[in-house]
Amino acid sequence: MIPNQWYPILPAEEVRNDKPTGVRRMGQELVLWRDLDGNLVCQGARCPHKGANLADGRMKGNSVECPYHGFRYGPDGGCKAIPSLGSEARIPGSLRVPVHPVQEAHGLVWLWWGEERAGLPDIQAAPEVADNPKVHSTLHWTRPVHYTRYIESLLEFYHITYVHRDHWFNYIDYLFLYGTPRKLGLDGKERYLSATKIVNHHLETDTERQTLRYSFDHQDEADPKNTTHYVITFTFPCQVHVQTEQFEATSWLVPIDDGHTEHILRWYEYPAFKPLLRSEKLRRVLPWMSLYMEKWIQDVQDVRIMERQEPKISEGGVSKFTPVDELNAKYLAMRSRLIQEAAEPKAAKETPKETGKETAKEKETAADPLPAAGAPEPAGKHPAPANGRRAPKAAANGEGLAAARASGTR
Ligand code: FES
Ligand SMILES: [Fe+2]
Repeated sequence: MIPNQWYPILPAEEVRNDKPTGVRRMGQELVLWRDLDGNLVCQGARCPHKGANLADGRMKGNSVECPYHGFRYGPDGGCKAIPSLGSEARIPGSLRVPVHPVQEAHGLVWLWWGEERAGLPDIQAAPEVADNPKVHSTLHWTRPVHYTRYIESLLEFYHITYVHRDHWFNYIDYLFLYGTPRKLGLDGKERYLSATKIVNHHLETDTERQTLRYSFDHQDEADPKNTTHYVITFTFPCQVHVQTEQFEATSWLVPIDDGHTEHILRWYEYPAFKPLLRSEKLRRVLPWMSLYMEKWIQDVQDVRIMERQEPKISEGGVSKFTPVDELNAKYLAMRSRLIQEAAEPKAAKETPKETGKETAKEKETAADPLPAAGAPEPAGKHPAPANGRRAPKAAANGEGLAAARASGTR
């Protein structure tokens, strides 16, 4: 995972003041709760006494009480009570749980994962997410895949023809999203399956905001009128916003550990139905249905592929990309740079560096896997790993960093 970033970990409404909530993120068990003033608290969930999980405990005044022997920990992480020693017990200051910086923004709880700093940077969210006025609903679930593979699956949409073609529920997409009114939507499946080519692709990089914006047309070569225009906006560390004329959604693919990722998915109201649905509640119904459809059908189809991908973790050099994988290549290059920067000693970070521009390393990694469009591959050129590049050593990915080491998560 990329250190020194804000990661959304769950919807803010799930953190309560009457009971602790447990989540596993960034390779750590965490407990979240609200103090008596409603402020968010996020702590390491392991009780230092004998290692019980505080998320299984309960709230007691302004503290969380361990389910095993009732030790209580306040918002500052310090132990406030050891019932078995009585109310006069002298409690050592070292008896405490780690407290992690958290903030509420865009309806989610965000965890700062990285070095301690006097002033933490702002939470990154593309304007498409931060300033989006549309009514929306949010749902989340866990999958047994690494976050790099999960993110990759949302950085392109030309897999849809193959992965999402054969499920009865897709008929809803076929009818409403792809079918033409002239044919009462019945031509939807055919139109969905025949749009296989990506054209007019364009990638913009905003290094300052750690945002990549990729637009393209998904087109039927035989019938260019059958085209869907997409804009995918990726913001580090894990936010993918997808927009077409018909629908709009934001995914956060949050690391749990090397084998699992939490998918927090937000679906926005459908512009086509807005004039028909006056009440906000009604406008939430279709996004809810789409979220459940994603959770139980389309996302499951994606996960079936991802679970069997090799290697489990994606990084520069492991894939043989084509020109339309530009966004994927750029994501991996920037991810690798951010991990390296976080691992650099402080002094090196203070030297002036390029801003708003690609670094030489990024240029090299992003450009390397992309042959010219339509260029035939030279016969016999099937090096392993792809492109003749060696897969970068794990050590080069900043694993020495304290946070990453503590969690053992990449
Ligand atoms: S393990 Fe938590 S109080 Fe004993
Ligand atoms: Fe998919």
